[in-house]
Amino acid sequence: MPPLAGVAQTGALPAGPSLTGPVPKHVAIIMDGNGRWAASRGLPRAAGHKAGAEAVTRCLRAARANGVDYLTLYAFSSENWRREPSEVADLTGLLRFYLRHKVAELHREKVKIRFVGEVGRFGQDLCAEMARAEALTEGNSGLTLLLALSYGGRSDIVHAARALAQAVQCGDLAPDAITEDMLARYLLTAGVPDPDVIVRTSGEHRLSNFLLWQSAYAELVFLETLWPDFDEDCFTRVLNIYGRRERRFGARPA
Ligand code: IPE
Ligand code: IPE
Ligand code: MG
Repeated sequence: MPPLAGVAQTGALPAGPSLTGPVPKHVAIIMDGNGRWAASRGLPRAAGHKAGAEAVTRCLRAARANGVDYLTLYAFSSENWRREPSEVADLTGLLRFYLRHKVAELHREKVKIRFVGEVGRFGQDLCAEMARAEALTEGNSGLTLLLALSYGGRSDIVHAARALAQAVQCGDLAPDAITEDMLARYLLTAGVPDPDVIVRTSGEHRLSNFLLWQSAYAELVFLETLWPDFDEDCFTRVLNIYGRRERRFGARPA
């Protein structure tokens, strides 16, 4: 098999079955289970990450085919720096490969790419490639793909709080004038609607510091599927589960 076979597999979009409920505008996914996928096959964890990267291509195809506007993928948390340096290097290598070989194709597909997280920690070269990818795709009108890399929800909120504190200190803002919308405008996801649904694969039932502010009213969907096995059918399953949920936002049940 050639390395990262999924890279070349975009092509025509799958038709996608007809869905009954509303399609979420913003789907966010905690892509978990690469290590267990590899272990169950007697493979090194790196093989799981490589297969996980191929699942990203399938997921993106499914999101586009179903008319999702925003797809946020949690690829590396601020806590994932605690992993073995060799595993971090494997993940960084994959990121570099995709930035070099995939961005042009995403651009042709009119995907708008945005990175959220403390991406400076990946070093100057990668950071520059990420900035180039964002600049190249900025004007695209298709799906917006947010890649959460070195992302932490608490840190996101702390940075927003600091920016607001700065404005207060300068005398530009009264503490009482701070609103939820204002704080949201300082988050890394500024301008992006909150996720309608947050999916986590691999059977874990936690957020692991993902979109803590933005998840306030997200529907949570937990799948047993390990991320490298995620495919278009899994995406449809998520949409069907979401479509059956009744969202109330605190109001009286219908
Ligand atoms: C998700 O898979 C990928 C990252 C967190 C980078 P894991 O590497 O966490 O896989 P498991 O949870 O050990 O199976
Ligand atoms: C969460 O998965 C982060 C990503 C999927 C990128 P982890 O595997 O790092 O989360 P924990 O450690 O099980 O909570
Ligand atoms: Mg994990």
